[in-house]
Amino acid sequence: MTDGPIHLNLFTMNSVEHVSPGSWRAESDQSSRYTDREYWTEIARTAERGGFDAVFFADVRGMYDVYGDDRETAVRRAIQTPANDPQQLVSAMAEVTETLGFAITRSTTYTHPYQLAREFSTLDHITNGRIALNVVTSYLESAGENLGLSGRMDKQTRYDRADEFMDVCYALWEDSWEDGAVVRDGDEGTYTDPDKVAPIDFEGEFFSVPGPHGCEPSPQRTPVIYQAGSSDRGREFAAANAEAVFVSQPTESGVREYMTDLKQRAGRLGRDPESLQFFLGVVPIVGETSDAAQQKYDNYKSNVDIEGTLALLSGFLDMDLSELDPDQQIDHIETDAIQGTMNAFTQSAPDRDWTVREVAEFSGLGSTSPVIVGTPETVADELQRWHRDVGVHGFNLKEIVRPGTLTDFVDLVIPELRERGLVRESPTGSTLREHLSGDGNPRLRADHPSR
Ligand SMILES: Cc1cc2nc3c(=O)[nH]c(=O)nc-3n(C[C@H](O)[C@H](O)[C@H](O)COP(=O)(O)O)c2cc1C
Repeated sequence: MTDGPIHLNLFTMNSVEHVSPGSWRAESDQSSRYTDREYWTEIARTAERGGFDAVFFADVRGMYDVYGDDRETAVRRAIQTPANDPQQLVSAMAEVTETLGFAITRSTTYTHPYQLAREFSTLDHITNGRIALNVVTSYLESAGENLGLSGRMDKQTRYDRADEFMDVCYALWEDSWEDGAVVRDGDEGTYTDPDKVAPIDFEGEFFSVPGPHGCEPSPQRTPVIYQAGSSDRGREFAAANAEAVFVSQPTESGVREYMTDLKQRAGRLGRDPESLQFFLGVVPIVGETSDAAQQKYDNYKSNVDIEGTLALLSGFLDMDLSELDPDQQIDHIETDAIQGTMNAFTQSAPDRDWTVREVAEFSGLGSTSPVIVGTPETVADELQRWHRDVGVHGFNLKEIVRPGTLTDFVDLVIPELRERGLVRESPTGSTLREHLSGDGNPRLRADHPSR
């Protein structure tokens, strides 16, 4: 059970398709406009009009070439390909909005923390503190190969590197520049007091970074940290770093198990477990009447690209689903790719056996999240239930048609949520961290392990 307003992110990708393969074929869909700046500024305006906290960009490197041991299906069917860099949309989207946040996915496996810290300080400055970093460790083998590595590191090494990566970033963001370092004293000719800018002298297994940070402190210093680790190692990483946690499980028992476990892990690390904010991925399909909603659902279902979905899932699971009989049951494995996708169809739904075909049919609309079909009242009831009874703090809206899933939600469901007093009327404070926590503090909490 949780009080407080429902928080909302639009979960999207700078690509034709994200997690609803085939939907680009729907009559109303405008996904091919992802290359236009105007498409994204419209999205930003709509999300802000709906009181969303943030637009949350997923991102991947590499291509989905696990299915059939070939990239052909993924390329033909636009499985997260083609995809552009999300970070470069932020300036344009921030320019047309005032309070909307931007969560950008970045991989600790394929970048350097000194470089990333600089980029995110800059983003936080130019948005006045509206930036979040979704920290991932990546899962596609082809990503590493393109960056001159022999392939994907094993998961343990990826997370070890991620731990160190975040230590470097926190040191640069939080410790390198004291508050008040920038004095702008024209008479003395001192812009910055050098005594208040310190090196970080970081020496680790993966990185050696003397510092200091090259950027002056931004409004939030550390961007809001989003994470979605789902394996045992990934959960430990999430518990140590995440302020907002993304849950993508289709069942209530799976969501509850994940939240309880993560809160316990965070508590053991000295954090207030209640300070972690859980965002559940949901796929809302809303119509003015039940019939209208059902018609949309039927139409969306008819566009689901089963083979494309299998290519997407094969990448998520690092398992070539083309080799399995469609009626074969999916058995639980520990995968080196995304454990959460596997858990969704095994541990999260222990009373049910899923076949390959059923998994593909279900996942074609938003992958592993609950699909909610109905009138604005029905959708609001269901969101209210997840929020009040299960205790999720907010939702990551997964799109089917673009921008239709968002505009339907903002035009139809938001008024109902506002009427019920379930979403905030106006944001608290000016930074994304303040919007999410409501506690007026733009900085990382004192009990965050990095402090
Ligand atoms: C809900 C969810 C969303 C994710 N989004 C991305 C993403 O956009 N880009 C990416 O490279 N990895 C993404 N991942 C992958 C993870 O962040 C993580 O690196 C990967 O799942 C391996 O760790 P795990 O098995 O502990 O989850 C996502 C995982 C989950 C569960």
